[in-house]
Amino acid sequence: MAKMKLPFGTISIPPRSRELVLEALDAKRVSCGRFVREFEGRFAKIVGTKHCVAVATGTDADALALAVLHDYGAKPGDEVIIPSLSFVATANAVLHARFTPIFVDIERHSLNINVSKIEAAITEKTRAIMPVHLMGKPADMDPIMEIAAKYNLTVVEDAAEAHGAVYKGRNIGSIGHLGAFSLYVAHIISTIEGGAITTNSQEHAEILTSLRSHGRACSCLSCVLSSTQSYCPKRFDSQTGEDIRFTFPRVGYSCKMNELEAAVGLGNMDLYEEIVNTRHDNLMYVLSRFDTFSPYLASIKEDPWERIGPHALPIIINEQASFSRTQYTAYLEERGIETRTLFASMPTQCPGYEYLGHKLGDFPVAEYMGRFGLHIGIHQELGLAHMQYFLDVTEEFLTKYQK
Ligand SMILES: Cc1ncc(COP(=O)(O)O)c(C=O)c1O
Repeated sequence: MAKMKLPFGTISIPPRSRELVLEALDAKRVSCGRFVREFEGRFAKIVGTKHCVAVATGTDADALALAVLHDYGAKPGDEVIIPSLSFVATANAVLHARFTPIFVDIERHSLNINVSKIEAAITEKTRAIMPVHLMGKPADMDPIMEIAAKYNLTVVEDAAEAHGAVYKGRNIGSIGHLGAFSLYVAHIISTIEGGAITTNSQEHAEILTSLRSHGRACSCLSCVLSSTQSYCPKRFDSQTGEDIRFTFPRVGYSCKMNELEAAVGLGNMDLYEEIVNTRHDNLMYVLSRFDTFSPYLASIKEDPWERIGPHALPIIINEQASFSRTQYTAYLEERGIETRTLFASMPTQCPGYEYLGHKLGDFPVAEYMGRFGLHIGIHQELGLAHMQYFLDVTEEFLTKYQK
């Protein structure tokens, strides 16, 4: 079999991105301004929300979406329910927003939060549920929204890996009160580093705009000062004369997206359909053939009511396998197929979370993924021949290693 290369991720930087990067550099307009505003408008339109606020990373997107709750009476130490399996940024962001993460185990078939266990995790201090659409597979949003309505909780969708995902006819990122996307290099649409928060609430968008810029009193979604460098008539309070740019009513962050990142993102927006469709075709090609590896290997399925946001291909080594994850990943890597683990149970397999006092065995499904899961790239620079190569290499591996 001729060797091929399947890197995990890629970033599209089309000529339009290069032109815009140069335009921003030449004009010396590099800090958050009109390209960011344009990117926000286009991203909101794609997700189908009224507003989008762009930030520096997907972790910031999660954290700021949650930090909005402080404007509505939430207190430091209040609780946010999240799945126990995710990239660790999900739990880190809860702490960045000054809340406590409460972990709920996942379901094996979807890799997403086990909705039947959410109510038992709700306490007097619960303020939000943050489901993660892991590997772009939509979490079961209808019951999550019902539980949230029953207990008056906010829902923030961690859609970091779920660009282009659809759940029962609605775009992921537009179902909860807020959606948080990562625009990091390996993600579907990228701004190099970056994040985007989507919402239909103008009030939330204004709070987010303030939060990303140190918690300033400024709340205009479009800032005349940063986009046109012209005089802002709202800047000095009409009664006190105070400069509202230097008045800080809330504890903020410093995580604006910059113009160079937005320039890369705008080029990506032009390719949005192409990128999502290529990745989706790659994913479906493999998933539709994956059953041949049963019972040794498993993956996720695209259910009839959804479209998976094609982030990557998750692979789970089942109990019937007589080989280790290390043997399988080494075999793939030696043949040019880059692998990543399928993250870890954040409370019990990430040492940074030991202080919360959870113990191994508390989240058995997430922990299983932490030991026996992996994922590989399916990105837009790969095609069906690469996908077939992966299938052939796996077939060959199973013939040699599965007793
Ligand atoms: C599920 C999830 N949430 C949050 C993040 C954080 O995004 P970023 O790396 O842009 O900070 C990631 C990043 O990979 C992620 O996979």
